Amino acid sequence: MTVRRVSDRVYCLSYDDKDLDLFESLWPLPLGVSYNSYVIFGDEKIILLDTVSQRFSERFIEDLKGLVDLKSINFLVSHHLEHDHSGSITAFLREAVNCKILCSPFAVNLHKVFFNLSEGIVTAVNDGMSMDIGGDILTFYLTPWLHWPDTMMSFLNFEGVLFSCDAFGSFGALNGKLFDDEIDLEIYLDEAKRYFSNIVAGYREHVIKAVEKLSSLGLNFKIIAPSHGPIYKFNPRLIVDKYVSWSKPEFEVKVVMIYGSMYGYTRILVEAICGGIESTGVKVALFDASRVNVSFILKEVLDAPVLVFGTPTYDANVFPNILNVLNFIEVKKLGVGRYASIFGCYGWGPSAYPILMGKLKNMGFNVVEPFLTVRGLPSSYDLDNAKKFGVKMGELALKFKK
Ligand code: FEO
Repeated sequence: MTVRRVSDRVYCLSYDDKDLDLFESLWPLPLGVSYNSYVIFGDEKIILLDTVSQRFSERFIEDLKGLVDLKSINFLVSHHLEHDHSGSITAFLREAVNCKILCSPFAVNLHKVFFNLSEGIVTAVNDGMSMDIGGDILTFYLTPWLHWPDTMMSFLNFEGVLFSCDAFGSFGALNGKLFDDEIDLEIYLDEAKRYFSNIVAGYREHVIKAVEKLSSLGLNFKIIAPSHGPIYKFNPRLIVDKYVSWSKPEFEVKVVMIYGSMYGYTRILVEAICGGIESTGVKVALFDASRVNVSFILKEVLDAPVLVFGTPTYDANVFPNILNVLNFIEVKKLGVGRYASIFGCYGWGPSAYPILMGKLKNMGFNVVEPFLTVRGLPSSYDLDNAKKFGVKMGELALKFKK
């Protein structure tokens, strides 16, 4: 837990969750995750910006009481109703008896269905609406789909603090640190990329829209204060630029190879194909879909121009763990604009390959033929072909060199 001053009027209460195994019951957290809540002390109004996960409710309320009399808090701004931010609302309102909630129009009903809060206590704000808090102005911007349709951001005008909620966030507990100049940025930017590919990627056109909207308003933001991960005070532009580059995306020259192999035959092809790709000077991100969580695969797929899928035939279909990865790539809309090809060893029949080809085409991939498919144990002739197949994939990735 960390309670620290962010600027003259703003404090952050940040909680490291190192015990949660899977964020959203999907994404591993080897480095944990943080939940950040903020308090703004205006001369006339005191505002709480989001709460934290219910897992930290008790501690959060105690820490908040150490900072401010809960009865003196005028408004809770609910930027987003997912429970990692709203999970302590009920505990908070039990004591903050004079507090009203401000949220996006979409979120009004979510307060009702999740927390049984009536419109008497919950009020919608309009896009661009401002509130004079005494000594500074807090302005609300609707930024839907970052990452639910309810999501909004707030901007503290004179201090230049953008409270961005999920946007510009990152996995990774903060371990007592808070600001971008106190941490190993390389680690957190890597976790921010994984967070982006897992949570935000499916809505990346909305990242561009939100950044364009905030830029067109000429907001002079000096501090980016997200609800997960470090606060960017030293270099606030850095995380915004990263999010924009991941949203476009700007491809790296690399090939992502994702395979499943029951008895090691498809795996034999993997090694030969990798050799071919690497002989072109292109790097390979290699994943055994049965042994690596899709969270880490999506992070590499995000900026990869070429993907290669290896599968045997399983139940006359594609190998199930490859289907699982494909499902996530489809949901996160990471097929369009990329090339994909197929390889694998099959035993009694090659029916996996037309099925996989159809799925890749439906997902928007440019499918590269011919595929490399082998019946049974690959021969030295097959391995030679596998190397040539790898060279072709590497040369394809090289076309994206700038
Ligand atoms: Fe951090 Fe969409 O919740």
